[in-house]
Amino acid sequence: MEVFKAIETRRSIRKYKDRPIPDDLLRQILEAARLAPSASNRQPWALVVVREREQKRLASKACSNMEHVAGCAAFIACFSSPKDKWYQVDAAIALENISLAAWEAGIGSCWIGYFDEDYMKSVLHIPQDDKIVACMTLGYPDETPDARPRKELADLVYWEKFIPRASSPPF
Ligand SMILES: Cc1cc2nc3c(=O)[nH]c(=O)nc-3n(C[C@H](O)[C@H](O)[C@H](O)COP(=O)(O)O)c2cc1C
Repeated sequence: MEVFKAIETRRSIRKYKDRPIPDDLLRQILEAARLAPSASNRQPWALVVVREREQKRLASKACSNMEHVAGCAAFIACFSSPKDKWYQVDAAIALENISLAAWEAGIGSCWIGYFDEDYMKSVLHIPQDDKIVACMTLGYPDETPDARPRKELADLVYWEKFIPRASSPPF
């Protein structure tokens, strides 16, 4: 699948088949994160990948019992030291690479930004001083959601200079 096709057709998937992702495929998807660009190539983040059912249940508890967290094949938490200026950007690039590489391989994903960070850290043994930037679920899709609406390019892009208009940021 071409990159643009993956970007265009990807959807957040919140219902998964009860089917594990083969280890070699999961590693290939994680490789897409490893290859992501980062500020000064510092690669400041790390991932905890959860496949065990009980750990996923506990991770789901940290996410107000989101069913797609308990029911995914693999749950990923991306964390970093907040001392690194670009840690959130670098982590986001890595996670989006995972999402697109997964989609190309027929695996759905969903970003998870809503979680009790302290509880999640305790479940995953992530050091207190680090920050969990975001999490992601992965699994074989058991739904085919419609595309969510997006703003028009004309509402998002200004050529050469920003010229305020009715729909200008902050929106
Ligand atoms: C940073 C971030 C955090 C998100 N957090 C959640 C979440 O906690 N739970 C959830 O179900 N979806 C979450 N999403 C998914 C968004 O709701 C979804 O990407 C958006 O509605 C657009 O839909 P689409 O991904 O299918 O295009 C999050 C997405 C991003 C980028």
